[in-house]
Amino acid sequence: MTVNRQIVLKRRPNGIPVPEDFALAEAPMPVLAEGEILVRNRCFSMEPAIRGWLDDKESYFPPIPIGGPIRAPSLGEVVESRHPGFQPGDIVRGLNHWEDYSVLTENTILLEKLHPDRSLPLSYYVGPLGGSGLTAYVGLHDVGRIREGDTVVISAAVGAVGGVAGQVARLRGCRVIGLVGSEEKARFATEQLGYHAVVNYRAVPDLAEAVRAACPEGVDVYFDNVGGATLDAMLINMKTYGRIIACGMIAAYNRQDNPPPIFNLWEMVARQLEMKGFLLQTYAASIPAAQAQLEAWIRSGALMVSEHKRHGLENAPALFCELMAGKTTGKAVLEIS
Ligand SMILES: NC(=O)c1ccc[n+]([C@@H]2O[C@H](COP(=O)([O-])OP(=O)(O)OC[C@H]3O[C@@H](n4cnc5c(N)ncnc54)[C@H](OP(=O)(O)O)[C@@H]3O)[C@@H](O)[C@H]2O)c1
Repeated sequence: MTVNRQIVLKRRPNGIPVPEDFALAEAPMPVLAEGEILVRNRCFSMEPAIRGWLDDKESYFPPIPIGGPIRAPSLGEVVESRHPGFQPGDIVRGLNHWEDYSVLTENTILLEKLHPDRSLPLSYYVGPLGGSGLTAYVGLHDVGRIREGDTVVISAAVGAVGGVAGQVARLRGCRVIGLVGSEEKARFATEQLGYHAVVNYRAVPDLAEAVRAACPEGVDVYFDNVGGATLDAMLINMKTYGRIIACGMIAAYNRQDNPPPIFNLWEMVARQLEMKGFLLQTYAASIPAAQAQLEAWIRSGALMVSEHKRHGLENAPALFCELMAGKTTGKAVLEIS
């Protein structure tokens, strides 16, 4: 190998991204300095958060520059190491870029050496056993403090995070209602993921009314992946002292300059609600136990895995655009061999 293929940002997307916003480029193969690790990437986690990094706006990470490689959570195999803690053959996870090879250091965000269960596909470790599943688990337990018997509503209910969150809440003895964007997703939610009830927000004239019909006694916990009009409809369905887990607000990601308004915020006061935003990386101490429990459920068949998988680095932009257009069910994951 003399070149390292990368997907770079060609121009900033306007609204929903399109594959033409990206380009395939070639960089020289990196030469390692002391303390660095060379990793051959195997799987990329396609995540809505990447959309925010494509805008020219400061956030919890700086914007990706035009011509720069696309930052993304990934999993790969160490092929060369000048770091005493890593050996060729180790499987590592971390935040790097859409590229064949990445150089990691101790400072790489979310860098972790994994000991994957080889009877499970490696791609699970960027999905239900990676950031998506861990976010669902930590969000429900550490942030939402779910209890047996709670009524829990989850938006983007068959997505990477939502699909795991719905199953975990059910396994913990909650009544779980999913919000989804199509009839096909609604069927998948009840038939495959075990949701007790589901609302297709695109098929009902009034989402708040439809949630009220599904949860006549109100909602204890709302796991919010979407924000916007969905959050607004949920605010008027929460029980007094209800908890809202602010996991993501994808309804605004494609329109950061004109985010959808929230009209029912007064309900935070009137119903004495708690709403807490969180980022998975803050809950590092909870991750080992969460990962062990999710692995056990997957091995036993209690937790069903759903993946929307594509292959080949060159297909990363198209898969990401599908994700941001709401066209995926389960974990959107790209494998490269
Ligand atoms: N806090 C954290 O640490 C953390 C970590 C990972 C992910 N997240 C967040 O969790 C949320 C879910 O992420 P994910 O990876 O699991 O994605 P995903 O749910 O697999 O995919 C996105 C889904 O969002 C729904 N959606 C609703 N409104 C949308 C809109 N305006 N445009 C596009 N999609 C829309 C679509 O499902 P329907 O058609 O069913 O509506 C779509 O399929 C995101 O907000 C993400 O940023 C947070």
